[in-house]
Amino acid sequence: MRQHVNPLSKNFDEIEVIPSLLEMFDDSKLNLHLDIGCASGEFLFDLALANTNWNYLGIEIRERLVRTAKLKVLERETKNLYFVFGSANKILNDFRNKFIIQNLKSISFNFPDPWFKKRHFKRRVIQPEFINILSNSMQKGSLIFIKTDVKDLFDYMDCTISSNLKFKTIDKKDFNYSESFNPNKIQTNREKYVIFNELEIFEKIYIKI
Ligand SMILES: C[S@@+](CC[C@H](N)C(=O)[O-])C[C@H]1O[C@@H](n2cnc3c(N)ncnc32)[C@H](O)[C@@H]1O
Repeated sequence: MRQHVNPLSKNFDEIEVIPSLLEMFDDSKLNLHLDIGCASGEFLFDLALANTNWNYLGIEIRERLVRTAKLKVLERETKNLYFVFGSANKILNDFRNKFIIQNLKSISFNFPDPWFKKRHFKRRVIQPEFINILSNSMQKGSLIFIKTDVKDLFDYMDCTISSNLKFKTIDKKDFNYSESFNPNKIQTNREKYVIFNELEIFEKIYIKI
């Protein structure tokens, strides 16, 4: 399967409108977590099964993966998980979808595509304008989690988020995972691969102030 999809392609100009919380989830009042670039969604299926007191939403740009994940949600009758297809930046920039950002408790960017060439940096999912949109809509106290095995990408993401004055870094030592979207520290597929291969993981948590 082709791994890299250009998020700036016109193919993604048509945007999936996210249904209301009531339509997506059995209990729309539960805390909501968004995973951006969720691939086949296995991480979110594990989370949704383990933490029935949270709702999970995944956005993924590879359509086939989203189609399969949506079918699996129906088959398994999972009531606290929903998938949306498209480029996260375009989806969350659309005024019809902004309500999601306002309702989030947290967002994760797990091992996003690095786009190593400088001329392709604008394809990276974390962009200053995108962080600005999130900072203007997220509730105070809501969180952003980033994780990657690519140091340059980590520095770029950290610099982009830290440059926004509405986000502050949380020291991992002071963070209580038990109340987070991932109390059991379930690993993503890429994370399992990275740990198996004894590569380093760079991660940070930010809070909206
Ligand atoms: C390296 S994979 C990591 C997958 C998963 N998060 C993990 O940790 O195993 C990055 C994923 O992000 C998706 N992606 C890249 N840019 C995206 C964008 N702008 N919007 C939504 N998904 C995106 C890719 O298609 C891919 O599935």
